[in-house]
Amino acid sequence: MNCKKCHTKAVIGLPRHNAAFCKVCFNAFVREQVARAIKGERMFAPQDRILVAVSGGKDSLALWDILLKLGYKADALYVDLGIGGYSATSRKKAVQFAETVGASHQATLLTHTVQEEEGAGIRELAMLIHRPTCSACGTIKRYQFNRAAIAHHYDVMATGHNLDDEAARLLGNVLHWQEEYLDKQSPSLPASVEGFAKKVKPLYRLSEREVAAYAVLNRIDYIVEECPMAKGSKMLLYKEVLNRLETESPGTKQAFYCGFLEKQAKAQPAAASMAEKDQASLRPCSTCGQPTTAETCSYCKMMARAKTGSPR
Ligand code: AMP
Ligand code: FES
Ligand code: ZN
Repeated sequence: MNCKKCHTKAVIGLPRHNAAFCKVCFNAFVREQVARAIKGERMFAPQDRILVAVSGGKDSLALWDILLKLGYKADALYVDLGIGGYSATSRKKAVQFAETVGASHQATLLTHTVQEEEGAGIRELAMLIHRPTCSACGTIKRYQFNRAAIAHHYDVMATGHNLDDEAARLLGNVLHWQEEYLDKQSPSLPASVEGFAKKVKPLYRLSEREVAAYAVLNRIDYIVEECPMAKGSKMLLYKEVLNRLETESPGTKQAFYCGFLEKQAKAQPAAASMAEKDQASLRPCSTCGQPTTAETCSYCKMMARAKTGSPR
């Protein structure tokens, strides 16, 4: 198998693109896909300051690496959720990677520790409020990402969600006809009101396998194990199903997700209508000031319940 571009020995085959690449041409392919995503979805401009949420996993560390190599100004945020050995290892990976990029580019890592801020890690917090850990975790991460981006005046917040993540999420939203979530499923969500950071997913054109190959080929040291709380989750099931379809017909994931984005763009002038909807329904949280549709935001409600709650 030879590289489609330079005809030297290929290191990876990409059936959905009917192509194979050597390391140099594969790196160029990956950066081109990210550059296309940034431009096509108007994610950010060269002078913007970007905050990348890094989990210590392959996607977010690869994203940070790619953005810096593309010449963007990107710092990162790691949120320590307090999930025992998993958090300890992922934190170490994020810190080690930050040390290498900090030396070669001007980039820094911010770290937030949930246990220090709220007195307990997410497993204990979830138990106190009787909610599944992953759902409490989602609320905490969204809140922490937004608060850090706003507090440190970043123009945009970027996460490492890839094509597999987005296609699996779309499948879940379609299976349950979650129309409200479908409206908001976009690789680029504008900062619709003051207090909400713009949120982007520059890896949405790359599959999980492609991002993993990028990380390995470029010697990015990441945490391989999945979060122990994710075992048996619906998202993993949807990913498995999509992978089976992809093996039978390469290109299925991309056709599914990118087809949805095209239809969505035709159906709604997304940014404008969403900003109007948000502006009409949002006001500052009475406790923390972040925008919310209720008197108190879901994060502050959760922390208030955790203070008075007891584990079942
Ligand atoms: P997940 O929800 O675990 O699939 O992660 C999706 C994205 O959220 C990752 O690619 C990261 O950009 C971000 N992320 C997840 N966990 C963390 C964390 N603990 N700290 C910072 N960013 C995170
Ligand atoms: Fe949130 Fe696993 S990363 S529960
Ligand atoms: Zn609040």
